[in-house]
Amino acid sequence: METLTKPAATAQEVDFLPIMGTDYVEFYVGNAKQSAHYYQSAFGYEPVAFCGLETGVKDKASYVMQQNKIRLVLTTALSPDSPISEHVKKHGDGVKVIALWVDDARKSFEETVKRGAKAYLQPVTEKDEYGEVVRSGIHTYGETVHIFVERKNYNGIFLPGFKPYKSMKKTEPVGLKYVDHMVGNVGWNEMNTWVKFYEDVMGFRNILTFDDKDISTEYSALMSKVMSSGDGRIKFPINEPAEGKKKSQVEEYLDFYGSQGVQHIAVATDNIIETVTNLQQRGVEFLKIPASYYETVLDRVGHIDEDLAPLKDLGILIDRDEEGYLLQIFSKPVEDRPTLFYEIIQRKGANSFGKGNFKALFEAIEREQELRGTL
Ligand code: FE2
Repeated sequence: METLTKPAATAQEVDFLPIMGTDYVEFYVGNAKQSAHYYQSAFGYEPVAFCGLETGVKDKASYVMQQNKIRLVLTTALSPDSPISEHVKKHGDGVKVIALWVDDARKSFEETVKRGAKAYLQPVTEKDEYGEVVRSGIHTYGETVHIFVERKNYNGIFLPGFKPYKSMKKTEPVGLKYVDHMVGNVGWNEMNTWVKFYEDVMGFRNILTFDDKDISTEYSALMSKVMSSGDGRIKFPINEPAEGKKKSQVEEYLDFYGSQGVQHIAVATDNIIETVTNLQQRGVEFLKIPASYYETVLDRVGHIDEDLAPLKDLGILIDRDEEGYLLQIFSKPVEDRPTLFYEIIQRKGANSFGKGNFKALFEAIEREQELRGTL
C-alpha cells in the first residue's frame, strides 16, 4: 500500500546539500541537430546556445534548448571513439546528466563524496568574458550522473564555451514551465540501494512509497519510492520491477536501455488542455486511455474546474489527494527503443503523483508492450 513516510524536520537538521532547482538535463543522442529540431518543433523549446566545430569544439556538438525554467542540452559525438558514441551505442538516445543548481559546487562535491558518492567530475572553474561557472559531478544509477552547477558569478547564455544560437525557425512554446520530477528505473532488488544513496549521500528523504499492491495490473508490477531533496524542490521517484505474470514495463526499459536510467521526465504546465492540444497537433504521441475511465473518474476525484470532454478527448488523467487534485498525461517513448518518455502534469493543489491512475496507466502501457511483443 501507499505509505507516507515524510518525517518531521527537526531544528537541528542542516541541509548539507541545498539545491535551488534543476539546472539542465543533458541527453546523449545520435544526431543532436535533428533532435534539436524535434524538441523545437514538437515540444516548443527554443534553441538558445550551441557549441561544436563552429565554436572551436572538436569532439562534440551540443544544442541548449529552453522553455521557461526548463533547459535541455542535446549532445552528440563527432567521432566513433568518444564516450558519447559509446553511450549512444549502448543506450540509444537517453539522459546522461541531471544537473542541479547549487550555491557552492565545490562544497556539494566534497559533502557528497565524503558520504560515499563516486566522483565523476572534479570541481572545475570555467571562465569566459561573462564570468565563471564552477561545476563538479558524481555518479548515480546506471551511467547517469549528477552535475552540480554554481553560476552565481556568471551572466552568459549557458556555460563558458557556448555561443548564443539563433534558429531560422520561429519557436512556438507550448507552456511547459519547469521540471516537476524525474524518475529513475533501477534493477531487481536495487531500489533500496538507491534510496539509501539519495538519503545518505545527498540528504534526500523518502516521502512516499508504493508497493506492488498499488502498482500492479493483471500482468505486471513495479514498486516505487519517491525521494525528495531537503527543501522539496527536487523529486526523484525510483522504480524497481516486481514479479507479475508477464514482463513489467521497468524490465522492458532495462532490457532496451541496457542499464538503469531515467524513465520519464515530468514537466509542469499551468494549462494542460492547451499544452496537450498543441503537442498532439505537432505530432507528439500520448498513451490512449479507454473511454470507460471517464465514466467513473468524477465519482473518484469529485469536482474539478475543467470540463471533462476535452480531458477525455486528449486522454488526460485526473487524481486527487488530501491537498487538491492533479491532471496528468504520459507520452509514448520519444525514441524507437521503448525507453524515455514524458509526463505533462498540471497540479491544482495536489503534491502526489497520480496513484489513482496507476492501474489505467499501466494497462495502457501494457497495450503498447503487447504491440511491441515485449509483454
Ligand atoms: Fe511521474
